[in-house]
Amino acid sequence: MTIHYLAEENSILNKFIAEIRDVSIQKDSLRFRRNIERIGEVLGYELSKNLTFTDVEVTTPLGNKTISLPKKDVVLCSILRAGLPLHQGLLNYFDDAENAFISAYRHHPNNNEEFEIVVEYFASPAIEGKTMLLADPMLATGQSLVAVYEAIKKYGTPKEIHIVAVIGSTEGISFIKDKFPENTHLWIAAIDDNLNDKGYIVPGLGDAGDLAFGTK
Ligand code: URA
Repeated sequence: MTIHYLAEENSILNKFIAEIRDVSIQKDSLRFRRNIERIGEVLGYELSKNLTFTDVEVTTPLGNKTISLPKKDVVLCSILRAGLPLHQGLLNYFDDAENAFISAYRHHPNNNEEFEIVVEYFASPAIEGKTMLLADPMLATGQSLVAVYEAIKKYGTPKEIHIVAVIGSTEGISFIKDKFPENTHLWIAAIDDNLNDKGYIVPGLGDAGDLAFGTK
């Protein structure tokens, strides 16, 4: 897996990350969603440089021009529900992508802090030989991403996988590293060092799904 850590390069991306973390700004859920969407746009732009391109001739009113365009083989898969604004940001750029949605939630069997990931809903086109973009904003323990990948395998083997995440923990990143095929890229906006005993990223931003959709 190749890791592309974008906050290492100073850019406007850092403003969007600061706003989703900041308790005095993040409670504005419209702004929160839009910031996650903007991060998806930046990550989508960066990862587009790694895709397969083919030359296409475009006719202008005054002549022809050959332009190298990304191959139309992208399947955009998002983990519900926190993945939705990130999905929208990616879709703004990959507007002809096919779309897949998958639900994954943490189930605490004995009401204690240990949990297992339950994957229930999965709607996806065939993905065999295609380029899969897998959007999950918070890469905390990494367990949901791995559970989702196991479920995806039933739909075929993608040509390559690009995981798109907003904030990850160092622990989560090392957990997923060897669980995906070699031709997997991780595009991540920010990395934090800690997880708390509930599996939340520290300092992170809190619960991305709740902040995006106003639930408490
Ligand atoms: N999901 C979130 O929304 N936040 C975390 O910190 C971890 C998982």
